[in-house]
Amino acid sequence: MKKLSKNIKWSFDNMPEPYDKHLSRSIPLYKESQKLIENLSSYYVKNSDYHYEIGCANGGIIGSIAEKFNNFDKAKFVGIDLSKHLIKEAKKRYKSIKNLNFVEHNASKHNFKIINLAIIHYCLQFMPYNEKRVLLKLIYKKLLRKGAAIIFEKTLLEDSYSQEIFSGVYSDFKFENGYSADEVVNKSISLRSVMQSSSSKDNIALFKEIGFNKIYTFFKWGPFEGYLCIK
Ligand SMILES: C[S@@+](CC[C@H](N)C(=O)[O-])C[C@H]1O[C@@H](n2cnc3c(N)ncnc32)[C@H](O)[C@@H]1O
Repeated sequence: MKKLSKNIKWSFDNMPEPYDKHLSRSIPLYKESQKLIENLSSYYVKNSDYHYEIGCANGGIIGSIAEKFNNFDKAKFVGIDLSKHLIKEAKKRYKSIKNLNFVEHNASKHNFKIINLAIIHYCLQFMPYNEKRVLLKLIYKKLLRKGAAIIFEKTLLEDSYSQEIFSGVYSDFKFENGYSADEVVNKSISLRSVMQSSSSKDNIALFKEIGFNKIYTFFKWGPFEGYLCIK
């Protein structure tokens, strides 16, 4: 693993190790939550209109869903990400899938089409609060009635007691995956001002303010949460 200097801000375009390896070692149940999203998506994918993954990185989630529904000739699957490097990787990985496109773009400035399903797996947490609102409003406006947003976020815990013990357990997870204490500390310093997590309560309040009719918290591992939001 390349050394991550504590004085450098975190960037997905310049990661210390290959993307999939880093995410699996850093996010509890990362592969399982991707699989859960894939299975949940089958309730919302239709053979019409658009299905988006916002912050798709190298395309693992939206790529698997498009692959599963590659006989849907009127459905469109789109992955959007800011990272030039990861979008290049995604395009190469899924070049044979016809109804799938990858776009290098800031999702909060994207011109969305009519949406059945939007997936946001650990991406909002990298946006300032106002940008999260702008993006969710854009998505909600184009989402069909009964359409879904599946959102995962690393949250701030509800009080100092739970923050203390679940941060400790999360550090154990990283040490068990082979990261040194220096690597864990340097990454957390590099994430200052980049990671902009909200509490579970504030996330749900934001989804309600945007207008979502039903919000289900269906996944939880310490600070990591998954929400199913229905219009
Ligand atoms: C933790 S990664 C998660 C990626 C992916 N969903 C997965 O499951 O592997 C967060 C991604 O969000 C992207 N991102 C952050 N802000 C963004 C924005 N405003 N528009 C598009 N992508 C963004 C980053 O470039 C990064 O690839």
